[in-house]
Amino acid sequence: MLTDLVAATGLLLLFALYQRFCAKKTAARSQAPMKLAATQPLPYRPFRWGPTYPQHMGIRNIAESSKWLQLDNEYADTIRLRATRMSDPSLVSSRTQPGYHAHALESLVEMASFLSLRFPKLFTVERTSYVRSDPSSHGDSTAGKEAGAIRVIHNHVTGEVWDLEVVERAEGPEWDPMRVAGHLVQDDLAVVVEDENGEYRFQAGSVCTAGFWRLQDKIGLALDEIHFGGAVPNYADKYQRSMNRFFSNLREDKLFERNNYFFQVDEQLAWSEKTNGTEAVFDHFNKGPRLDLVDKVDGVVHPAAATRAEDVWFRTERQTLRRLPKTRAILFTVRTYLVPVTKLADEPGVPGRMASAIRSWPQGDRSVTWYKGGELFNPVLLPFLDQKHKEQLAAGVLHLNDKGTTGERYPF
Ligand SMILES: *[C@@H]1O[C@H](CO)[C@@H](O)[C@H](O)[C@H]1NC(C)=O
Repeated sequence: MLTDLVAATGLLLLFALYQRFCAKKTAARSQAPMKLAATQPLPYRPFRWGPTYPQHMGIRNIAESSKWLQLDNEYADTIRLRATRMSDPSLVSSRTQPGYHAHALESLVEMASFLSLRFPKLFTVERTSYVRSDPSSHGDSTAGKEAGAIRVIHNHVTGEVWDLEVVERAEGPEWDPMRVAGHLVQDDLAVVVEDENGEYRFQAGSVCTAGFWRLQDKIGLALDEIHFGGAVPNYADKYQRSMNRFFSNLREDKLFERNNYFFQVDEQLAWSEKTNGTEAVFDHFNKGPRLDLVDKVDGVVHPAAATRAEDVWFRTERQTLRRLPKTRAILFTVRTYLVPVTKLADEPGVPGRMASAIRSWPQGDRSVTWYKGGELFNPVLLPFLDQKHKEQLAAGVLHLNDKGTTGERYPF
């Protein structure tokens, strides 16, 4: 009896040790193989009950490293859209600034290594053999130094093969790693690097689905310039210090994520023309067509307010942040999800909470309502949401507490 117990405890102990040993190696691997077609996009609904509108970064730690980059059943469509944008020479979809090739390359290989371990059926890599004295043969932080440097990336979903030496021979030593990275994931990518004044600058990126901003307007800029230029309301008071502190203090063994949301008045993921007008004449300060160009270009589209709730689409981002160990660059990823509000409004509690959140947006010139483009959709969206909320209450699908809310805690 006693010996059985001792043996059992010993086995348990051994098992626990074995698990700890494996945990490190399998950090990037999934617990269960994932099937793209069966994986729904993550259902982020990051708007909160009023009356106060939260103004902070809302950043959360990602505890499990296997959750860094996520794929879902929209993968093939999004990758096709990204490829179409990248093949259009009139758009600047990816760029690595001179001097930042190493930072962009580290981003690419860390992504490819993660994808090949986490989704081994969808991605594989070929590596050079490790030579201790040759740093260019060293592996990435996910697979380890001795695994060897990634030389070829296979994307088995699209059938594409990226041989990095072939790309380099064709395009020269300053080839753009972000172009390759942009064909691997659904996310837009931004590589941000500290400059000699301690400011973080956007030095490389793959931006195909930003909706309302263009890479060409922001590349090379510091974080503060990007947010002031983007007219983020209350940036100086509420965000500037904490964001810069966050970037300076970000450690390479940590992963973070945050969500935000917008609305737009068409279903276009890449560029919302009805929201901001023709992309080619976009003026990023006024967030609309450049007035000096509209007469010189044929068929310019101007922003147009929604006339029905069916025109309004909810747009939410999952952003992740991590620091890369070799170059110390910070890789920022942005996966954008687009859902028609008419569909979203069927989810219990959503119409009530969404209308309450919109009513909590500070009003006025260059304030949150302006920043989110409220005048383009609020007149049709709010009455629609109020009606749906009433119907849900009447049908008994939700119960309000004494504060008039459903009481769940963020994030939703
Ligand atoms: C462009 O889109 C942004 C983001 O939704 C919005 O704030 C802005 O008002 C739009 N521009 C115009 C001219 O409607």
